[in-house]
Amino acid sequence: MKTNEIFNLSIKMGIEADFRGREGVKKFLENKSKKYEKMDEEEKDEFDKDALENPYLDSRIYYIADDKEIKKVLVGIDIGPAEILLAKELGGIDLIIAHHPIGKGLAHLADVMDLQCDVLNFYGVPINIAEGLMKERIEEVARGVNATNYQRTVDTARLLEMNLTNSHTPCDNLAAKFLKDLIEEKKPERIGDLINLLKEIPEYREAMKIGAGPKIFVGDKENRCGKIALTEITGGTEGSPKLYEKMANAGIGTVVGMHQSEEHRKEAETANINVVIAGHMSSDSLGVNLFLDELEKQGIEIVPCSGLIRISRIK
Ligand SMILES: [Fe+2]
Repeated sequence: MKTNEIFNLSIKMGIEADFRGREGVKKFLENKSKKYEKMDEEEKDEFDKDALENPYLDSRIYYIADDKEIKKVLVGIDIGPAEILLAKELGGIDLIIAHHPIGKGLAHLADVMDLQCDVLNFYGVPINIAEGLMKERIEEVARGVNATNYQRTVDTARLLEMNLTNSHTPCDNLAAKFLKDLIEEKKPERIGDLINLLKEIPEYREAMKIGAGPKIFVGDKENRCGKIALTEITGGTEGSPKLYEKMANAGIGTVVGMHQSEEHRKEAETANINVVIAGHMSSDSLGVNLFLDELEKQGIEIVPCSGLIRISRIK
């Protein structure tokens, strides 16, 4: 497989696991195309054409130094200049795959947050409320990443002639689908049962060894879960703290997330929503691993770094 094929596979897998379904993703792209068609020449020129085909603009190919057959990849949750140097030092690395976005992927992080409206709607929050509250949060995130030195890592890859790509929301979609399917199958009754269920997942078991296992942020292990929502696994980054009250009104009892700010935690507590935080690096690893298994099946060797807990599910 070449870099392009690896990247396209991650996008395809992300779409298959997407809460919106294949049709929903198609509509999202069609909407972008319609907007593009209405633009004048100057606007069209400035428009990011990737948006017409890639529903996850936080996932990109940043640099191809050598469009060769990929046999060995270095994969990490956060890739910075240090990891690019590491790849060079290790030798024999054909491609570096990051999870978290860098470069123009990070500049477009807010673009994938629209997905959260659909996830919230899937769990019963009226779409107008989800869209209304997410709109201001999306704008906040777009401004928030603005100060970043976007190209630092990409520049390092270019200077050291390393192929560089990332897969963020596609992998987070895989993690969300995995957890959703498991929770729907096992139907944990109480928060303690939910925590125990998560602890059976190898990535979380590994994280527990360093004190980063699943934790209750709001609630008690004796609390009943009620309706469990996977609203904080995929869709860029944290949504609006004002959503918890609306989620409670929609009948959500427990939220499973990767990580949570104190402001969000307090709002969830006020709304009497239980919060189970599965863990950040471990949840990211789960999604990335499900993608990497497909590369491993193609005979690609995987070298994990930068917080990736590599677990292979290939038997
Ligand atoms: Fe993450």
